[in-house]
Amino acid sequence: MGINILGMGSYLPEKIMTNDDFAGFLDTNDEWIRTRTGINSRNMAGWEPVWLMGKNAALKAIEKAGISPEEIGLVIVSTVTSDFVTPSIASILQYELGIKNAAAFDLNAACSGFVYSVDTARRFLETDDNIKYALVVSAEAISRICDFTDRSTCILFGDGAAAVVLEKSDKMYSSFLNSDGSGARKLFAKNCQPAEIVKQNSDFDDGFADMPVHKLYQDGKEVYKFAVKALPTAFRAAAEKIGITSNEIDWFVPHQANVRIIETAAKNLGAPMDKFIVTLDHHGNTSSASIPLALNEAIENGTITRGQKLALVGFGAGLSYGSVILEY
Ligand code: COA
Repeated sequence: MGINILGMGSYLPEKIMTNDDFAGFLDTNDEWIRTRTGINSRNMAGWEPVWLMGKNAALKAIEKAGISPEEIGLVIVSTVTSDFVTPSIASILQYELGIKNAAAFDLNAACSGFVYSVDTARRFLETDDNIKYALVVSAEAISRICDFTDRSTCILFGDGAAAVVLEKSDKMYSSFLNSDGSGARKLFAKNCQPAEIVKQNSDFDDGFADMPVHKLYQDGKEVYKFAVKALPTAFRAAAEKIGITSNEIDWFVPHQANVRIIETAAKNLGAPMDKFIVTLDHHGNTSSASIPLALNEAIENGTITRGQKLALVGFGAGLSYGSVILEY
């Protein structure tokens, strides 16, 4: 069983931060950021609630889908920057959107979160006849966990949200989800843990004790090496299941981390760059929101049209990776 994307919507916070803005307080410059990452600007949420960004995107997706919120039976929100430890943003949206009877939960698969959530939703749709429509929302304010003194990391990220309404369909579909936890220390932000107490008790010393709390840390070079392999691996694993090749894909919609990652992965796949949707120049890396933001933009500007075959490919902290191949 496949899925149909019935409607989509997105939301970007108003404030835009350019590379020159970073140069105002960091030892960096527009040329370095553009040539090493492909990023020119990104949106910044400030303290705008992540659930509200998600709600704004979801309202548009539901309107485009032309359904009533009461017909939605499942809400999944992917985020690594929830406003709350608990409850889930999905529960908040379920109420805020007027969805009456739906399972609702958040899913954290970092930047692979949209791909994970879409595939999870498809599995619910396949196995539960009571669920007619599923709402998947990816909402992120990564700027909130950025260390704005770390010039090699903070310049990469932006904030935003996007949502899809999905229904069951006979359309072509394949997916692949995976994770390599041996790379957990290569990209992480930790919750509160008093370092001195963790270190006193060697049984609990997880090796993260001295790292700053609630700040994103990465080994950029290692993550880069992982990403350029993960992208083709995730695509091929899903493609092989249904006997499709990269030549038959109309559009790749990859996680928007760094244009050099996308270019290298395209080469590894033997696919031309002009088949890759790239929006990171003006979105930056918005974690799990990056794939649906790129997808929605390409749909809205007419680049992606109905009937085309799409490959959505994500990778991120975990280290998680995965892909979904579907027909729009
Ligand atoms: N402005 C200017 N100089 C900078 C800089 C910045 N914003 N950030 C780093 N530099 C400097 C470094 O300090 C280093 O200086 P040195 O040679 O004097 O030591 C130099 O630029 C080269 O740094 P390097 O780390 O080799 O650059 P890079 O080409 O590997 O690019 C990343 C760094 C972070 C852009 C790149 O590794 C990357 O994109 N990694 C993947 C990160 C990612 O996508 N994370 C999220 C995944 S979901």
